[in-house]
Amino acid sequence: MQPLPADGPDLAAFGDEFVWGVATAAYQIEGAADEDGRLPSIWDTFCRVPGAVANGDTGDVACDHYHRWRADVDLMTGLGVDAYRFSVAWPRVIPTGSGPVNPKGLAFYDRLVDGLLEAGIRPFLTLYHWDLPQALQDRGGWPERDTAYRFAEYAEAVAAALGDRVTDWTTLNEPLCSSWIGHLDGTMAPGLRDLEAAVRTSCHLHLGHGLATQAIRAAARLTPSVGIVNNLSPCEPAGDRDEDVAAARRLDGHVNRWWMDPVTGRGYPDDMVSVYGVDLPLRDGDLETIAQPLDYLGLNYYFRQIAADDPDGPAPYARQVPVPDAPTTAMGWEVHAAGLEQLLLRLTSEYGARRIYVTENGSAWPDTAGPDGAVDDPERTAYLEGHVAACARAIRRGAPLAGYFAWSLMDNFEWAYGYDKRFGLVRVDYETQERTVKASGRRYAELIRASRSPRVS
Ligand code: FCB
Repeated sequence: MQPLPADGPDLAAFGDEFVWGVATAAYQIEGAADEDGRLPSIWDTFCRVPGAVANGDTGDVACDHYHRWRADVDLMTGLGVDAYRFSVAWPRVIPTGSGPVNPKGLAFYDRLVDGLLEAGIRPFLTLYHWDLPQALQDRGGWPERDTAYRFAEYAEAVAAALGDRVTDWTTLNEPLCSSWIGHLDGTMAPGLRDLEAAVRTSCHLHLGHGLATQAIRAAARLTPSVGIVNNLSPCEPAGDRDEDVAAARRLDGHVNRWWMDPVTGRGYPDDMVSVYGVDLPLRDGDLETIAQPLDYLGLNYYFRQIAADDPDGPAPYARQVPVPDAPTTAMGWEVHAAGLEQLLLRLTSEYGARRIYVTENGSAWPDTAGPDGAVDDPERTAYLEGHVAACARAIRRGAPLAGYFAWSLMDNFEWAYGYDKRFGLVRVDYETQERTVKASGRRYAELIRASRSPRVS
């Protein structure tokens, strides 16, 4: 192992209580799509729409984590992480979305949680990472209010079963994607292009979040820490024109304020309600339910966005423009670590965050594996170090950052991009399911070790 560079992240900023973790999501890794009573989710359906997913890939097998989870926990032990952020598949636990719990589905997470605790790894459990049971979609999905109540029932079932061991809970992962990408852009499940459905989805996801937060607190035996995970982006105007400045403000509303304001008690931003021009499907008391006090805010950070006015485009009438000559990942996403520091400070000053976790951050690159599966991935390592350094700067400037979760533990099913885009610290050979820790994974392990005893590195 090479020594950590002297100009690397300021690891002394993190302290011994800091939680270093890795993250995954159920549909992206588990496979075993029709085992032990699991029924389809909207992603199983979407994957069968011709052209929807690159190469016609599906999550049917994925990383086969459902069968290989013990070896995957061993990988985490090898990396030396404190915590593992994973999601529970609603279609395993309540396969038809409402009604009886499927004991076999729940038993998988029971085993996983026990295995993690035995390994000394703290489970961070996400209830919804986009895999709505198809049966609920058939009854209208998130545009229907009823789905929020079904989500709370599911949350209660999981909290009742695992809340004697799990203390760290996330209701929703990135409701922006479920709403804007799933129901407005149509490039993720369920693949709709309907502004009204998208806005209704956002409100019902928020309502579900509030109801689920209450349900977890009522059902969990151990006092839970409950939060929500949003993916946010700094939004900047493409130039000085007033139109572009206004477009950047709208884009900020669309990707940041619409998601942060209601869950922190500010209601929905008025300017955006006008931009969308859709009646919000809210009833008396909903805003209070949505704004349950939260124990932490989860931030997923990947890129910033630069906006130009686009009056003829879809809401929010702001077109994203690339930054000239900017370094980009295999996703085409700009590498801009300063944006992470900026968002952490914004959550602190504007939203009064008292505890924040970076619940996802990472990058895809066109990895090449040697004959033994080894991957030397200096770009991913540099990305990781740059973003960890941004976290350290934010902590020094007062952000109450309590943990960082690298996306992702291992290469996995990257939604509409299929298996082409690899985000893992660990390579997965999808032919053999062999796992090989990449150079970036080894560097992450080293960073974690060094942060605990900075002088010994
Ligand atoms: C996030 C998702 C996660 C993964 C990363 C790359 O938006 O939460 O599942 O796909 O992007």
